[in-house]
Amino acid sequence: MMANERHKDKLEELRRRREAAMQGGGQGRIDRHHQSGKLTARERIDVLLDPGSFTELDAFVTHQCHDFDMDQQRIPGDGVVIGYGTIDGRQIYIFAQDFTVFGGSLSGAHAAKICKVMDLAMKMGAPIIGLSDSGGARIQEGVVSLAGYADLFLRNTLASGVIPQIAAIMGPCAGGAVYSPALMDFVLMVRHTSHMFVTGPDVIKTVLHEEVSFEDLGGAMTHNATSGVAHFAVDSEQECLASIRELLSYLPQNNVEDPSLRESSDDPERQEDALNALIPDSPNRPYDMKELIRMVVDDGEFLEVQEHFARNMVVGFGRLGGQSVGFVANQPIALAGCLDANSSVKAARFIRFCDAFNIPIITLTDVPGYLPGTAQEHGGIIKHGAKLLYAYGEATVPKITIIVRKAYGGAYCVMGSKHMRADINFAYPTAEIAVMGPEGAVNILHKRKIAEEVDDASFRTEKVAEFRDKFANPYIAAERGYIDEVIEPKETRPKLIKALRSLRTKRVTNPPKKHGNIPL
Ligand code: HXC
Repeated sequence: MMANERHKDKLEELRRRREAAMQGGGQGRIDRHHQSGKLTARERIDVLLDPGSFTELDAFVTHQCHDFDMDQQRIPGDGVVIGYGTIDGRQIYIFAQDFTVFGGSLSGAHAAKICKVMDLAMKMGAPIIGLSDSGGARIQEGVVSLAGYADLFLRNTLASGVIPQIAAIMGPCAGGAVYSPALMDFVLMVRHTSHMFVTGPDVIKTVLHEEVSFEDLGGAMTHNATSGVAHFAVDSEQECLASIRELLSYLPQNNVEDPSLRESSDDPERQEDALNALIPDSPNRPYDMKELIRMVVDDGEFLEVQEHFARNMVVGFGRLGGQSVGFVANQPIALAGCLDANSSVKAARFIRFCDAFNIPIITLTDVPGYLPGTAQEHGGIIKHGAKLLYAYGEATVPKITIIVRKAYGGAYCVMGSKHMRADINFAYPTAEIAVMGPEGAVNILHKRKIAEEVDDASFRTEKVAEFRDKFANPYIAAERGYIDEVIEPKETRPKLIKALRSLRTKRVTNPPKKHGNIPL
């Protein structure tokens, strides 16, 4: 055979192998997968990444299992597609489980591929994205599969706070497999087609005689609204992939970079007259804090995180003068904006993410205090509330706070107060800063007198009015320098943008330590 003939054979073999690898579990399984309303792993990657940017690695890897006749079934790729590419021109690393190959189950070889791409992401300082669609541990491989999961969990842990880690659940995710997404920064779930649980409905029925559907046990809304495991619920795979692109646009590549600035035609000096009328005259009437945020950010764009969980606290990303910022805000239309265990944990985790990735934190305060009750006390509000204090206290990124209305008691301290190292503290003229609200304060201070004058409510009303006049304002705090400036609501956007610019060179470090001991 002539040399170039041999060469031709080799090229043909490569092409044949490549084509076989692209077939995944075969056309029959691909068709069934499509019929269930799902895209294949490679189709998902194509939708997510910039066109033509994906380079696949390890397409020929196969498992090394000989038991259960597995040596008769070797499918190139072994149920996961890994590689690198770009999103909006920025480098990312990705793994996408291929359900058409052994149900996307995780073998030793499958795990090694994911570990390889995570190691590359860490070395290069680029985000890692995982698209999960898997039957869990490859049953035929036993402990080798479990070891593979543990290898992954270790990498997720070491990558935490170094590179952004985003998990999209696009199919089943069962057993210990849920812990890799749980260790990542953000979890997205597709409604109706994704499920996460540690023990499934069958086990629950056997052990507890409880009947529960996959959806109720671990569907997208269960984890978005009830457990707080997930951060985004989306209606379709396309929306899921678009949301990942949007989320990434607010984030830096890694913990030593800043998020990139995004140009906007929205005037940094824009004043919003409607803001002067947003806060109702009555301190007990609610308003939507998200309206305030949307009126202030560039082009009204706000990406809310954990929209459905602990709705008394709003967290999410926006931009101010092109700069990515994280908002943490009490929400008066849910539980009057009270702090409770879930909202404390939600905000604490978000603050720690922002702090790890150099994203300034803007706090908007309107909080009447902590939610009272045995459910909260027995549920550990002391421990969970402490997480929020801890997160604010340790955060060294620029921190700007606006007291919009109520800032009472411990909630004043925690919500980005000057004393927790906020850099710039603003207040609206509607701010009320005190140990507690006027009604509660008068009830305690004048307990005996009020009891004596049971038939005469005028004393109490008079004292409440007196307390409100004297303390329910921002000026006592401003006189002490706890508030740097009292601003008109309509000036919020230009004030925030100027403050952010002034803080760009902020450098603060915490005392050296191995790591702190956040009250978990
Ligand atoms: C090997 C698996 C598999 C697994 C599915 N398959 N799960 N192969 N190991 N874990 C294979 C099936 O045999 C089938 O192969 C193909 O994938 C598709 O599976 P179906 O059952 O036909 O699909 P569907 O009806 O959509 O059901 C999907 C499913 C179900 C709900 C995920 O397959 C299932 O319950 N699988 C087992 C889930 C599980 O209990 N995993 C272990 C969790 S414990 P063919 O050849 O027919 O196409 C765990 C521990 C991790 O993961 C611990 C980490 C610390």
